[in-house]
Amino acid sequence: MSTSLQPTPALSRPSSSLSGTVRVPGDKSVSHRALMLGGLAAGETRISGLLEGDDVLATAAAMRAMGAQIHQDGAEWVVHGVGNGCLLEPEAALDFGNAGTGSRLTMGLVGTYDMETRFVGDASLSRRPMGRVLDPLRQMGVQVEASAGDRLPLTLHGPRTANPITYRVPVASAQVKSAVLLAGLNAPGITTVIEPVMTRDHTENMLKAFGAGIEIHGDANGARHIAVEGQGTLAGQRVTVPGDPSSAAFLIVAALVTHGSDVTIENVMMNPTRTGLITTLLEMGAVIEVTNERQTGGEDVADLRVRASDLKGIEVPAERAPSMIDEYPILAVAASFAEGETLMAGIEELRVKESDRLAAVANALEVNGVTCSAGRDWLKVTGHPGGKGLGAMTADAVVETHLDHRIAMSFLVFGLAAEHGARIDDCAMIATSFPGFLDLMAGLGAAMQVDP
Ligand code: S3P
Repeated sequence: MSTSLQPTPALSRPSSSLSGTVRVPGDKSVSHRALMLGGLAAGETRISGLLEGDDVLATAAAMRAMGAQIHQDGAEWVVHGVGNGCLLEPEAALDFGNAGTGSRLTMGLVGTYDMETRFVGDASLSRRPMGRVLDPLRQMGVQVEASAGDRLPLTLHGPRTANPITYRVPVASAQVKSAVLLAGLNAPGITTVIEPVMTRDHTENMLKAFGAGIEIHGDANGARHIAVEGQGTLAGQRVTVPGDPSSAAFLIVAALVTHGSDVTIENVMMNPTRTGLITTLLEMGAVIEVTNERQTGGEDVADLRVRASDLKGIEVPAERAPSMIDEYPILAVAASFAEGETLMAGIEELRVKESDRLAAVANALEVNGVTCSAGRDWLKVTGHPGGKGLGAMTADAVVETHLDHRIAMSFLVFGLAAEHGARIDDCAMIATSFPGFLDLMAGLGAAMQVDP
């Protein structure tokens, strides 16, 4: 559903002096959660700033199919929820398109219900591992019928009464943490997630705001214990979704690597679990001014003024990965124009995103003349300041995006600073997270377009 069958190739050419003040669409993680909790909670939830991308619209459709009423009222989305424990069995399969977060969190949300729910998705989503979410759900009593390797399409049958569990997440994953916490809402008693490495905390924050009984404490080893009380009452809320830092990332790097640029991005979420890329770019010598810091809808928000900068390569510490997990493709682009080498370590999780991002980035860099090497969980990029000799406009030098929006946007940004520009095989799936990306970039002065 989320990607047209016909790929839409696109290209970008060397550009200069990107300038302007813009906003990026609402945060994808917060948008999914707002629709899910709004659809579950009793009463009305009003959401402003919702990301109207295909991934989030798939979540809206799924919540509707399970009984929530959702409509638009001007710029706001209004959700009338069913009440905790009262989701209905969907009549047809829930189609999540390209959306890992939507599908995995919804498996948690409804998996423990005494009903049958079927999950389907596009080719990219059907390749991604779901066992990380299904394993704890099985411990809670959920029966799973899945394709080989716990992949989509799959069907969940919940038990009559779910078993609350204590679950230590084996990989740093906010999706796994969130799926277990959401499943816990429908289990009697306390469900606890132990998270050795902190990941984005939007689920915990929003559960609190909707009135769930939730307690969080750290242990002596630095792990976070998040305990949620099941079968309590959730009440509809007003949610304001700030701009998505993972979308702002493309504009930030575009401004940094494009000569003469000066771009301001307003209303960017600055939750510390999401700002690893900004920390990294500042260490590389980026000129990024963080201004107008404030709180919006319970989240830290700021405006970012970004100017073209001479970057230098660095070693990015492995422990930073959770706070910038979706930003490595665009960091690799920044590294391509930096002086020296950039080493990104501890990034094995990139292999199970919308594509195997480690392989996809390495291939795309090679196609475009950038020297790089990759291992199981690391990537090293040697930069070419000025972009001389980089890029490729020939028909055989096209970046393969593998239905991955972040690969597509990253290499369109790459082409702005590479001597010969860049071509990608498809830009249609950018609409999953950043509708209007090409137009917004063109408005800043970027030579970026659908391949005529
Ligand atoms: C997300 C968590 C991350 C991230 C994804 C959004 C979320 O995935 O890559 O884009 O909203 O919880 P993992 O939890 O698998 O790291």
